[in-house]
Amino acid sequence: MSTQSSVSMDTLVSLCKRRGIVFPNSEIYGGFGSTWDYGPLGVELKNNIKRAWWRDMVWARPDVVGLDGAILSAPDVWQVSGHVEHFTDALVECRSCHRRFKADELGTNCPHCGASDFTDTRQFNTMFKTFVGPVEDDASVAYLRPETCQMIYLNFRNVQLAARMKLPFGIAQIGKAFRNEITPGNFIFRTREFEQMELEYFVKPDTAAEWFDRWVEERLAWYVRYGIPPDLLERYEVPDDERAHYSLRTVDIKFRYPFGLEELEGIANRGDYDLRQHAAASGKELDYFDDQSQEHLIPHIVEPSVGVERPLLAFLVAAYAEEVDARGNKRVVLRLHPQLAPVKAAVFPLVRRDAGLVALAQEIYATLGPEFPTIYDESAAVGRRYRRQDEIGTPWCITVDRQSLEDRTVTVRERDSMTQERQPVDELLPELQRRLREPWAPPER
Ligand code: GAP
Repeated sequence: MSTQSSVSMDTLVSLCKRRGIVFPNSEIYGGFGSTWDYGPLGVELKNNIKRAWWRDMVWARPDVVGLDGAILSAPDVWQVSGHVEHFTDALVECRSCHRRFKADELGTNCPHCGASDFTDTRQFNTMFKTFVGPVEDDASVAYLRPETCQMIYLNFRNVQLAARMKLPFGIAQIGKAFRNEITPGNFIFRTREFEQMELEYFVKPDTAAEWFDRWVEERLAWYVRYGIPPDLLERYEVPDDERAHYSLRTVDIKFRYPFGLEELEGIANRGDYDLRQHAAASGKELDYFDDQSQEHLIPHIVEPSVGVERPLLAFLVAAYAEEVDARGNKRVVLRLHPQLAPVKAAVFPLVRRDAGLVALAQEIYATLGPEFPTIYDESAAVGRRYRRQDEIGTPWCITVDRQSLEDRTVTVRERDSMTQERQPVDELLPELQRRLREPWAPPER
C-alpha cells in the first residue's frame, strides 16, 4: 500500500464543496469575498472542534469557567482597550489597478498588475463599525468585536465573585469575531468573520512567566492529542515589533499549511494591561482580594487564543491521505480523530432489495442516530459505500448481511485499518461509545 499525505489547497477546497463541508457564501450572486458557509458535515466538524476545546479547557479543569458575552458593546470598551488607536493595518493602494494591500506584505511591484506606483501608506482600522438605533451619527457608533476576550475582562469580577474563583483561574469563551481584513484569503484561513476560542487565564503577577510557558506546552499537546503530527507544528517567538499593543510576550503556534508555515494559535502574556485600562477608565474596581496576603492585586493574564477555522483547516490537511493498494485501487481517506469526525458511523444493508436487511439496518440507525451523527446508505456496491465514508472520515461502517438476520451480529469496519469485526447488534451503541472515548493516534504516515 502506498500513501500520499500532502494535499493541495485545490484538492481540499473541492472536497469541502463536494462533500458539504464548506461552501462559498452568496455563491449564486457570484460569491462574497472570502466569506464561507459550513455545510452539513462542516457544521458537525466545527461543533466537534469547539466541543473538544470546551471539554478540555473548561469541563476538565476545576480552575476554568465559561462565559458568553455579547458581540456589541459600549464603544468605550474599544477606545479603552486600545483597539480604536492601535488595531490598524498599514494600507497602500496601487495607483494603476487601485487594488489595496497591506504595506508590510508588499514588495516593490503590485502583485496584481506589476506596476510600482503606490499611494502613501495610511493606517486603516480593521474594526467593523456599525450604528445602534435609527440615527447614523457619531454618538450611535458601535463596533463588532474584533476579539471575544474584552467581555471577559469587563466581567472579571462578576465571574470571580459568582463562581467563587481563586487565583489562578481562567474564563473561557467561544464566539464570533470580526475584522475588516485588507487581504483575507487562503480559503477559510483569513476571513473577515470568524469564530474565536479564547481562554483568559488570570494569575498572580510573579507567576505569569511560568504559566505562559505551561500554556504554550498545553496547547501544543492539544493539537497532537487530536491528531496533528508534531512535525507539522512549530513555536514562533513573536518579536517586539510584531506584537499586539497589549502583549508583553507572544508565542504563536504555527502549522505547515499547503500555502506555508502560518499562525494557527497565539498565546499572549497580556500582563495587567486590560484590567488596569478598564478599571482606570470606568472608575470601577477590577482587582482581586488575596485571602492569604490580605492584599488587593490586579492579576496578570495569559491568553491562548485561536480561531475555530484555522484548526479546522489544519485538521483536514493533516487527516487527508490518498492510498493505493497492491491492486492499484485508490482511496481517499480523512484520518480524523473519531471525536472530530463529522459522522461517527454509517449503516448499510448489504443489498437494498432485501427487506429483512433494510429493516435491521434502519433499526440500527434509529438506535445510533439520536446519539451521534450517523448515515444510512443503501445505494451502490458496499465497496463504493465504504469509499464515500472514508472520504469524509467516518470511523466505523456497519454492514447488515444475511448472517445478521440469523444471529443479530453485524460487521463493523474500521476506517484506518479497514479491518472488520463482527459485533452483536445490541452492543453496538455502548461499543462505539467506548471506542469514541479511547485515546487515538493517527496511523504512521
Ligand atoms: N484576543 C487575542 C487575539 O485576538 P490574535 O492573534 O489577533 O489575538 C487570535 O488572534 C487567533 O484568532 C489567531 O491565532 C487566529 O487563530 C485567529 N484569527 C485572527 N484573525 C483571524 C482571521 N482574520 N481569520 C481567521 N482567524 C483569525
